[in-house]
Amino acid sequence: LTVVEFTPGLENIVAAKTSICHLDLESHRILIRGYDLIELAQKASFEEAAYLLLHGELPTHGELEDFSSRLRRERTIPNDVYEALRRLPKNTHPMDVLKLGIAALAPWDPDLDDNSHQANLRKAERLVAKLAILVANGWRITREKPVLQPAADLSFASNLLYMITGAVPSPREARIFEQTLILYIEHELAASTFAARVVGSTLSDIYGSVEAAIAALKGPLHGGANEKSMEMLLEIGSMENVQAYIEGLLERKQKIMGFGHRVYKRGIDPRAEMTKDLLKHLSQDRGQTLYYNMADQIQMIMASKKQLYPNLDFFIGPLYYLLGIPIELFTPVFAASRVTGWTAHFIEQQDENRIFRPRALYTGHRYRPYLPVEQRG
Ligand code: ACO
Repeated sequence: LTVVEFTPGLENIVAAKTSICHLDLESHRILIRGYDLIELAQKASFEEAAYLLLHGELPTHGELEDFSSRLRRERTIPNDVYEALRRLPKNTHPMDVLKLGIAALAPWDPDLDDNSHQANLRKAERLVAKLAILVANGWRITREKPVLQPAADLSFASNLLYMITGAVPSPREARIFEQTLILYIEHELAASTFAARVVGSTLSDIYGSVEAAIAALKGPLHGGANEKSMEMLLEIGSMENVQAYIEGLLERKQKIMGFGHRVYKRGIDPRAEMTKDLLKHLSQDRGQTLYYNMADQIQMIMASKKQLYPNLDFFIGPLYYLLGIPIELFTPVFAASRVTGWTAHFIEQQDENRIFRPRALYTGHRYRPYLPVEQRG
C-alpha cells in the first residue's frame, strides 16, 4: 500500500470527475454545465435549470414543454406512502419524514433496479417531481393539516410554495422563491452529493442514494444551517442585541450558523450575495426590514472579527421566513431543489463507475493477544 497523506474532511482532495458543476474560485463563478449559476437564477426558470442539470443542455422550447409536463404528471404520491407517514410521531422532523417518504416511494417505481442511463434519468425526473410533493404533504400529514393536491397550472416553484403555505403566491413571491431554488440546485461535491455518489458507486439504486443525501443534508453543518440561522435571528430579537449576542457566541467558541464554507473559506459565497439582495427587496416590499438589518450587521461583525463570510443559507433563513415558510421546512425545501443535483451526480457516477473504497489512517491498538474472559483483570 502506498501511504497517502491523510486530510481530515478530505479538504482539497479531488474525489470524482464531473462535468456537472465547477466552482471557479478565480472568476468567482459557479458553473453549471458551463452556465453561471447566478445568471441562471436571474434569467431561467427552475424547470430550465433542472433540465440543464439532468440532460446536460438548456432545453429548446419543445423540450422544456415536454419536461415540464412530465414533471407535472409525476407530482403524485401513492396513498400507501401517505399512510406510512401517518404512522410517524406527530413531532417527527420534516427531514425524517422525507427520508421515510423516499424509502416508501422506492418500491413503487417500475424502474427501481434498472440502472441503465435512460432508466436512471426517468427515475431522476420522477424524484424531482415527487420529492417536492412529499416535502409539503409529508409535513402536512405529520402536523395534522389537510393534504393538498398539486395545482396543475402552477410551475414547480409556485406549486411548492402553494402546497406549503396553502395560498397561491403572488408572481413576485413565486419568482423570488424560484430564484432561491435555482441557487440551491447544485453545488459540486457538497457532503450530501458525495454521499449520493458513494451510494451510487455500489450500483445501488437512486432512491437509496437520495435517502443518504437527505440524511447528510439534515445536519446543521450542511443544509440544516438555514433553519439555525433564522432561529438565531429570532433569538436575538432586536438590533440592540446583535453585537453582544454574536460576540458572546464567538467568545464561547461557538459557531455562527450560515457563516464559513469549506471551499470559499475567506471569501463570500456568490450565492449569498444574490440571496442578500433578494432578502433586501422582499423586506422592503413587506416593510419589514428588521431581519435584513440584523443579518447585515452580523455580516459586518463576522467580517471584522473573524474574517468569515456568509454562505447561501444565512440569508435564505429570513427570506423563507418572510415568505411564510415554517422554519422546520427550510432544509426540506433545500432538498426539493438539490435532489436535481444529487440525481445528476448519481447518473454521472453510474455512467462511468468505480466503487468508492478509500483507506483509513489507523489510530487504534497494534496486535493484542486474545485472553479468555477468566484471565481478564
Ligand atoms: N462561526 C464561527 N467560527 C467559524 C465558523 C462559523 N460559522 N465556521 C468556521 N469557523 C472557524 C472555525 O472554528 C475554525 O476556527 P479555528 O481555526 O480557530 O479552529 C476556522 O473558522 C476554520 O473552520 P473549519 O471548521 O475548519 O471549516 P470547515 O471547512 O471544516 O467547515 C463549515 C466548513 C462546516 C461550513 C463551517 O464553516 C461551519 O460549521 N459553518 C456553520 C454551519 C453552516 O453554515 N453550514 C452551511 C454550509 S453551506 C451549505 O451547506 C449550503
